[in-house]
Amino acid sequence: MARLDVSIRPVEASDLDALVRIDEKLSGHTRKDYWQRRLEISVLRPPWMSLVAETDGRLAGFLFGWVSESEFGIAQPTGWVDLIGVDPPYRGRGVGHALLQRFLDSGSELRSIAKVSTLIDLGQADIREFFTRLGFRHGPMIQMERDV
Ligand SMILES: CC(C)(COP(=O)(O)OP(=O)(O)OC[C@H]1O[C@@H](n2cnc3c(N)ncnc32)[C@H](O)[C@@H]1OP(=O)(O)O)[C@@H](O)C(=O)NCCC(=O)NCCS
Repeated sequence: MARLDVSIRPVEASDLDALVRIDEKLSGHTRKDYWQRRLEISVLRPPWMSLVAETDGRLAGFLFGWVSESEFGIAQPTGWVDLIGVDPPYRGRGVGHALLQRFLDSGSELRSIAKVSTLIDLGQADIREFFTRLGFRHGPMIQMERDV
């Protein structure tokens, strides 16, 4: 499929409804309060950490991330992708790649990140294939958890 002509920009408060609409398709839930909180967090972070992709005046995808400085015992600044999503009709046309590339370029230029990490559900094939295609490999750490 042909690559879409997308523009990447920082998220804005007025993107709320479009984000909720895309997330409804990804999660099957309407989570307006959740997205409202995400947007409130975003204004506290540098704009390049919370990005949306637009094509033909429509919001096609989003990426939310942050940078760790020495969290989890990782000494060097590391970019973390904690949310990425592309509206299904726009998938497979470079939108996710464009969002990730902007995050990497800005993180490298503005915060000297040398590495980017994320957590994925190994059972979610689209996410796994996407990150693998874009050069991600298993890192040396594992997620640990317990019930509370
Ligand atoms: C994963 C996702 C972000 C990919 O976005 P996308 O815009 O379709 O990805 P791109 O078109 O930029 O693809 C980039 C590369 O990944 C590959 N890729 C993307 N999705 C793939 C899939 N499902 N299977 C295999 N490869 C895939 C593409 O082929 C492309 O490789 P290439 O550069 O060698 O051609 C999108 O499928 C998505 O939003 N999935 C749901 C994610 C979700 O549930 N998010 C909510 C919680 S985080």
